[in-house]
Amino acid sequence: MYFARAVPAPEGMKQRMAVEEAYLDRVLTMEVGRCTEAAAVAASTMIGRGDKEGADQAAVTALREAFNKLEMDGTVVIGEGERDEAPMLYIGEKVGTGKGPKIDIALDPLEGTTLTAKAMSNALAVVAMAQGGTLLHAPDVYMDKIACGPGYAPGTIDLDAPIEDNISAIAKAKGEPTSEVTLCILDRERHLPLVEGARKMGARVFLISDGDVAGVFHATEASTGIDLYVGRGGAPEGVLAAAALRCVGGQMQGRLHFRTDDERARAERIGITDLDRKYDLFDLASGDVIFAATGVTDGTMLDGVKWERGFVNTHTVVMRSKTSTVRYIRARTCR
Ligand code: FBP
Repeated sequence: MYFARAVPAPEGMKQRMAVEEAYLDRVLTMEVGRCTEAAAVAASTMIGRGDKEGADQAAVTALREAFNKLEMDGTVVIGEGERDEAPMLYIGEKVGTGKGPKIDIALDPLEGTTLTAKAMSNALAVVAMAQGGTLLHAPDVYMDKIACGPGYAPGTIDLDAPIEDNISAIAKAKGEPTSEVTLCILDRERHLPLVEGARKMGARVFLISDGDVAGVFHATEASTGIDLYVGRGGAPEGVLAAAALRCVGGQMQGRLHFRTDDERARAERIGITDLDRKYDLFDLASGDVIFAATGVTDGTMLDGVKWERGFVNTHTVVMRSKTSTVRYIRARTCR
């Protein structure tokens, strides 16, 4: 991630700045992992307590506190809602010490509030950071999404094509029959046509009850056996998933889906002019991106938080698009 500077600098200074920027970038990547750790640990105290708002609040408070220790001039671009509806980490809130680089932050302190409340798998604390103006400022509405992992020719999948065509395209690219294609889909009534279409093709469907950031990520990990993610979920989660895909490779397309005029007005208020636009991966997250996630409950991607006497154990992934580095970090911290 290269941080914007207002004044052009002479050559020697430019070199020093580049070194400084690279350093900040690398340090920040690890620091972001510390922030998601803090959010996940706080949320973990609420696992299985049937209180999804309480779990979310615990994660939000911890994440904000962790952010405010970071040397950055951060702005939340995807957060807990608009200023008048969220007291903390609302869209537009400034976080960090205000001294470091200018960065945009997309966050979901607890992706999977219901999963946490019910002690179900795959709840995560998630943050993406990028240079200002490079993450889509998505309103809190739905987004239709399609994503696959790396290694496919550009244009293999298409949001506007029938599900059968997308399954055939993936099967052809893999050199296998459609029965060897596995899709991940949120288990919702609205997705029944997708599920039926996939099953008619003989494909396997991996249904998830919540958590489509992890759902999209599953399609990039060979070990999950998932080839394709499809369906309608949150637009903010779509941008977070895109940030992860920018780091590990893969393809994704999305289109905002509005249910009411109020939702359309929300999008217009934050500067979206073409409400029907089909976004590709680089429209969703165009610049250099840092992505971090820590498991709250055990999941396919990450283990959940584990408490032991005096300590807490966490499992975090941090990644950078610039270098495609993916680091898994297991931490044991004193409590
Ligand atoms: P929460 O973290 O707010 O519980 O959202 C979880 C989630 O499953 C997202 O991953 C997904 O994008 C969205 O909800 C789907 O929305 P809906 O439950 O309305 O279908």
